[in-house]
Amino acid sequence: MTPEEYLDEHEKQRLDQLIELLKFPSISARSEHNKDIQACAEWLVDHLNSIGIESKIYPTAAHPAVFGSKISSPDKLTVLYYGHYDVQPVEPLDLWHSPPFEPVVKDGRIIARGATDDKGQLMTHVKALEAYMKTGTELPINIKMIFEGDEESGAEALGDFVKNNAELLKADIIVVSDSSQFGKDQPAVTYGLRGIASVEVKITGPDHDLHSGSYGGSVPNPINVLSKIIAGMHDDNGRILIDGFYENVIPITDWEREQFTKLPFARDEFLAEVGSRELHGEKGYSIYEQLWSRPTLDVNGITGGYQGEGGKTIIPSWTSAKITMRLVPNQTPDEILEKFESYFRKICPDYVDCEINIHGGAAAVVVPTDGPWLEAAGKAIKRGFEVDPVFIKEGGSIPVVGTFKNVLGLDTLLLGWGQHDDNAHSPNERFSIDDFERGCYSALALIDELSKVKA
Ligand code: BES
Ligand code: MN
Ligand code: MN
Repeated sequence: MTPEEYLDEHEKQRLDQLIELLKFPSISARSEHNKDIQACAEWLVDHLNSIGIESKIYPTAAHPAVFGSKISSPDKLTVLYYGHYDVQPVEPLDLWHSPPFEPVVKDGRIIARGATDDKGQLMTHVKALEAYMKTGTELPINIKMIFEGDEESGAEALGDFVKNNAELLKADIIVVSDSSQFGKDQPAVTYGLRGIASVEVKITGPDHDLHSGSYGGSVPNPINVLSKIIAGMHDDNGRILIDGFYENVIPITDWEREQFTKLPFARDEFLAEVGSRELHGEKGYSIYEQLWSRPTLDVNGITGGYQGEGGKTIIPSWTSAKITMRLVPNQTPDEILEKFESYFRKICPDYVDCEINIHGGAAAVVVPTDGPWLEAAGKAIKRGFEVDPVFIKEGGSIPVVGTFKNVLGLDTLLLGWGQHDDNAHSPNERFSIDDFERGCYSALALIDELSKVKA
């Protein structure tokens, strides 16, 4: 049997296995799920071992990593596959049509937390390799796989793991499927990701909540203060006002502008996808420029005061907000976090206490847009999807990809099988079974195409 025939014959089985994997509530941000993370990692290890990829769990400073390999000859190229088995939190639960960790197949899609981000995508490569192993077909490449359990919560531990295990991870090229196609039936090769810088701020006024009638008008209200600071972080043109924020940003090149202009943009569809009435971004930039090549600042959550049923007339003692900034090439997380902190301290009035907790970040990445690796990836996608891929960038971040470049000196092929409306990080996350399937066949073709590259 050829590997293709094996894939043809095992469609049901691999879907069932993906369903099994999706049942683990491997939420990395929540310590009450540490056991689930561990169990999920163990499932992956067992699964890889069962198909002939020798694997084990590697502890890191945070959640465990799963590493497996099959090295058959020093003369073959070595491909390192990366994916993450941890998932985002599931709240708000009441918006899910079915429980997040009880996968459901509906309208050709599998619905569960992690379906597209990233369990479904990482499985495509596992299943492609399995097709070689289980048919006794000699793998034309050496392979290594590393699956992370911390991607959704910052990935700092894996960064250190990569630094400490450079020899273990040594390879010729890295393959990551943890992003999206350009659109429905339009696969893409992604050549850039934005970076990220995260911070949490807390403002404290009075040392306890006060009656807003008895005291209102005389003491600082921390929520009023924080709102004003946040409102002052953008001007009316959507530009970020932090001093020096754009200092290192590389202006968009003519080549890139031209690439982006070639890509269609359906405004109405986009508005429907996000469920918003209007768009609002930095003036002077097209939508793809705003999404892929310009930095941002967003409040992800804000807390404080009374939010329960009914009302409570108080001046709250404190408020806090989680803020992330998306970075573009040449901005570094350290630089941006330092600029954020000094700006925040500068504009925060001294009649309240201001606490800034830096949560770290990751730099943006760009990978070459030509060369033999990219060509091989393009051919593999064409074989799996029967459509030529387009070149895109993405606005999201995969922190370890920058570390792979800086520490291992390796470029990454970013081959996303998902769709932007898969509801990643949202209720009712889903992954089209068609995309899963075409991802598996592309992953299979990729093994063949990469083996032909003369590194
Ligand atoms: N798979 C995403 C990254 C991504 C998102 C790539 C959209 C392309 C398009 C990844 O799992 C993710 O969500 N990363 C986080 C990183 C953060 C928690 C440090 C992100 O981008 O918010
Ligand atoms: Mn992901
Ligand atoms: Mn994610």
